[in-house]
Amino acid sequence: MRIVCIGGGPAGLYFALLMKKQNPAHHVTVVERNRPFDTFGWGVVFSDATMQSMRQWDPETAATIEDAFNHWDDIELVFKGRKIRTTGHGFVGIGRKKMLNILQERCLELGVELVFEREVQDDGEFPEADLIISSDGVNSRTRAKYAEIFKPDMLIRPNRFIWLGTEKRFDAFTFDFQRTEHGWFQSHIYRFDDKTSTFIVETTDEVFKAHGIDKMDQDQSIAFCEKLFADTLDGHSLMSNARHLRGSAWLNFGRLICEKWSHFNGNSHVVLMGDSAHTAHFAIGSGTKLAIDDAIELTNQFNRIGHGRENIAAVLEAYEEVRRIDVARIQNAARNAMEWFEVVGHRYADTLEPEQFMYSMLTRSQRISHENLRLRDPVWLEGYERWFAERAGAPASPNGHPVPPMFTPYSVRGLKLANRIVMSPMAMYSATDGVPDDFHLVHIGARAMGGAALVFPEMTCVSPDARITPGCLGLWNEEQKEAFRRMVAFVHEKTPAKIGIQLGHAGRKGATKVAWEGTDQPVEHGGWPLVSASAIPYLPHSVVPRAATREDMDRITADFVRAAKWSDEVGFDILELHCAHGYLLSAFLSPLTNTRDDEYGGSHENRARYPLEVFRAIRAVWPADKPISVRLSTNDWHEGGNTPEDAAVFAKMFKEAGADLIDCSAGQVVKDEHPVYGRMWQTPFSDKIRNEIQVPTIAVGAISEADHANSVIAAGRADLCAIARPHLADPAFVLHEAAKVGYAGQVWPKQYYQGRVQYETGLARAAAVAAAPPAGKA
Ligand SMILES: Cc1cc2nc3c(=O)[nH]c(=O)nc-3n(C[C@H](O)[C@H](O)[C@H](O)COP(=O)(O)OP(=O)(O)OC[C@H]3O[C@@H](n4cnc5c(N)ncnc54)[C@H](O)[C@@H]3O)c2cc1C
Ligand SMILES: Cc1cc2nc3c(=O)[nH]c(=O)nc-3n(C[C@H](O)[C@H](O)[C@H](O)COP(=O)(O)O)c2cc1C
Repeated sequence: MRIVCIGGGPAGLYFALLMKKQNPAHHVTVVERNRPFDTFGWGVVFSDATMQSMRQWDPETAATIEDAFNHWDDIELVFKGRKIRTTGHGFVGIGRKKMLNILQERCLELGVELVFEREVQDDGEFPEADLIISSDGVNSRTRAKYAEIFKPDMLIRPNRFIWLGTEKRFDAFTFDFQRTEHGWFQSHIYRFDDKTSTFIVETTDEVFKAHGIDKMDQDQSIAFCEKLFADTLDGHSLMSNARHLRGSAWLNFGRLICEKWSHFNGNSHVVLMGDSAHTAHFAIGSGTKLAIDDAIELTNQFNRIGHGRENIAAVLEAYEEVRRIDVARIQNAARNAMEWFEVVGHRYADTLEPEQFMYSMLTRSQRISHENLRLRDPVWLEGYERWFAERAGAPASPNGHPVPPMFTPYSVRGLKLANRIVMSPMAMYSATDGVPDDFHLVHIGARAMGGAALVFPEMTCVSPDARITPGCLGLWNEEQKEAFRRMVAFVHEKTPAKIGIQLGHAGRKGATKVAWEGTDQPVEHGGWPLVSASAIPYLPHSVVPRAATREDMDRITADFVRAAKWSDEVGFDILELHCAHGYLLSAFLSPLTNTRDDEYGGSHENRARYPLEVFRAIRAVWPADKPISVRLSTNDWHEGGNTPEDAAVFAKMFKEAGADLIDCSAGQVVKDEHPVYGRMWQTPFSDKIRNEIQVPTIAVGAISEADHANSVIAAGRADLCAIARPHLADPAFVLHEAAKVGYAGQVWPKQYYQGRVQYETGLARAAAVAAAPPAGKA
C-alpha cells in the first residue's frame, strides 16, 4: 500500500512507524510543513496506560520515550495563601519537541519517508496514495475540504488560555489560583525535562478583557502573567514559543467532534486521526494519548482484517467503530474537567475552603472517585475525611477512622438526619383509591430499617384527579390520612429514619396505566379530565388537558394546602413539592409545555408564578421547624426546553420563597428527550445549583454505591444523595454499603445483629481471598 500522512505530529508519525513496522513493503510518507526541530508547545503528559500499549506495539520507541520522561507523583494546589499537596497520581511528562524527534528518528530507522517544509494544500496532491491520513491537527485543511462529509462540530469554549514555559523546575503538577480585582486566573504547571516546565495560564473571557489582555502584545501579556504568578515563579521568567501567533497569543479551546472520520476521494481513502478528528481539553491532558491510541487502533485493524488495499474500507469502518467509544469516554471526562475550570472562579474559588476546593479539583472529571483517591494517597484522604467529618459534627467512628462523608449527619431547620442518604420517591402503583396499605407499610418500613436517614414514599397526589395512575397514593381523605399515620408511626417508633412526603399533581401525565400495563399510556376505562399549564397532550394519543383556569389553580392550591396540613398532622418530617418530570407544576416551569400568554407563561418569573403560589401556600401552613424541598427537572434534555441555567433561576426563586433544599432531578418533561446517561449523571446540575445559588441540594440519578455518594458529598456537589433503584434491589442498601466501605459506626436494627456479623465476616473473607497470591505462587 502507499500511505501518506499529512502532518507530522504524534498521530501521523506514530501511525507511519507502526504501519511500516508491521509491513515493511508499505510505502509510507509523512509530509510536514515545519522543519524537523520546529514545533510550538512545551511538554505533554501521558498516563501509564498509554505507555503500556506503546510498549506492546513498539518497545523501541517506548523505551526511548521512557528514558526521556520526567515522572512525578504529586499534585500541589496553591490557593488562598495555602499550599496543599497529595501524592500517588503518577504522571509522566515529555517535551513535545523531544517526543516528535524520537518518533521522527524511529520513522527513519524503519524506512518511513519524511518530507519536511512542505505545506499540503489538498489531498489531491497524492493521487497515487491508497490511504491518506489526515493527521494535520485541529485546524485540518483536509477536514475542512470534506466538511460536508465529516460534519465537524467545533464548539469554541469561552475560557482563554496561553501555553507558556518556564525554567523553574516544579516537582509537582502544580495548580496555582490567583485572584485579581476582576476575578480568578489559574495556572496548570508541570515539568517535562531537566530544565523546563509547561506553564498554562487560563481565565474567563470576562476577566481576560477586564484586564485589557486582548489589547496586549505577547510580551506585555507574558509580563502580566509573570507578575500575577510571581510567588510561584520565584524569580523565574515565562517564555513563549508561539511567536508565530499574532496578538497576545491567548487561545480559546475548541472542542471537536466529527460525525464521520473517513471518505473515499475517488483515488484514495482519506481518514481523520488525532486532533483533526477530535479534541480533548488540556485539563485532563489526553490529546496526545488520543492521537497515539488512534494510530494504534488503525494499525490493529489492518493486522486483524488484512494489510491489502482491498481491505481499507472495512478497516476504516472497524477503526471508527472501536475508537468512537473510547474517544467519547475521554471527551466526556474532559468536558467535566474543562467545565470545572470554566466556572471555577465564581462557583468554587470564591466559596469553598482550600481543603474542599482541593477535593473538588481532584475529582473534577468525575473519573477519579473517593476510593480511587484513597488508593493514590490514603493519608491525605483520611485527613480530608477527618476535616469534613469534624465540620459536619461527626465524632470518629468506633474503629478510630473518620466517618466517611456519606455517613456524616446533616441538619436542616429542625430535621436531624443520621447520614446523607435519602430513599428517593418511587411510584409503586399499588394503592387502591390512593390508600397506602400493608404493601406500602412493609415497603417503606423495610427501607427505613435499611439505613437510609430519610425515606420518601412515592409521589402522593393531592386529589383523585391529581393521580398519575389509578394505583397512585393520595392524601385527600381521612382513610388515607390514617393509613399514613400508621406508616409514619412505624418509621418513627421502630427505626432511626425520618420520613418525608412528596406532594404532587400529575397534570397532563395523569389518567395513565400502571407501569407494568404501559407507562404513560392513557387508561382505557375510568379516566378523568386532565389539567395542565397549556392544552398540549403528553403523547400524540394522550388525553388533551385543559389549560388551567384561575378556578382550577385555586382549587389545586387548596388541595395542596390540605394535604400539607394533614402531612404535618400525621407526623411527616419533611415535605417535598414535586415540580419535576412534566407533572403539573413542572409543566408550568417548562417553555415546552407552557405556551400561555397570560401572567403564568412567558418569562421565568411568569412560568414560576403558579408553582411559587403553591409553594408559598404550603410553606404558610407547614411548621417553621420542618423543611421543604422542591424537586426540579434541572434539564429538559430537549431543544428549546429548560437548561441547567434556567433551573438555577428557578432554584433561586424557590430559595428566596423559603425552600430549604432543591432536589435536582432532570427530564421526563417531554417524551422526545435526549438525556445523556452515565454514572452520577445529574450530579453536575446539583453542583451548579448548590454552589452558584448557595442553596442546599439533593443529588439523584445513578448514584449507586458508597463510593459515588462519598465523592458527591465530599466535593460539596450536594448535601444529600437520593438513591432510588438500588433501594428497590436492596432495602438494606445503606447497611450493606457501610459494611463494604468498613464504616463501623452504622447502626443496624438490634434484631439483625447476627446477620450483620455474618455479612461483615463474609466481606472480610472475600477481601482476604482477593488479596491472596494466586495458587501455586505462595
Ligand atoms: C495548551 C495545550 C496543552 C496541551 N497539553 C497536552 C498534554 O499535556 N497532554 C496531551 O496529551 N496533549 C496535550 N495537548 C494536546 C496535544 O497537543 C494534541 O492533542 C496532540 O498534539 C495531537 O496530535 P496530532 O498529531 O493529532 O496533531 P498535532 O500535534 O497538532 O500535529 C499536526 C501536525 O500537522 C502539521 N500540519 C498541519 N497542517 C499541515 C499541512 N497543511 N501540511 C503539512 N503539515 C501540516 C502541523 O505542523 C503539525 O506538526 C495540549 C494542547 C494544548 C493546546
Ligand atoms: C419505579 C420508579 C418510580 C419513580 N417514581 C417517582 C416518584 O414518584 N416521584 C419522583 O420524584 N421520582 C420518581 N422516580 C424517580 C426516582 O426518584 C429517581 O429520581 C430516579 O430513579 C433516578 O435515581 P436512581 O438512578 O437512583 O434510580 C421513580 C423512579 C423509579 C425507578
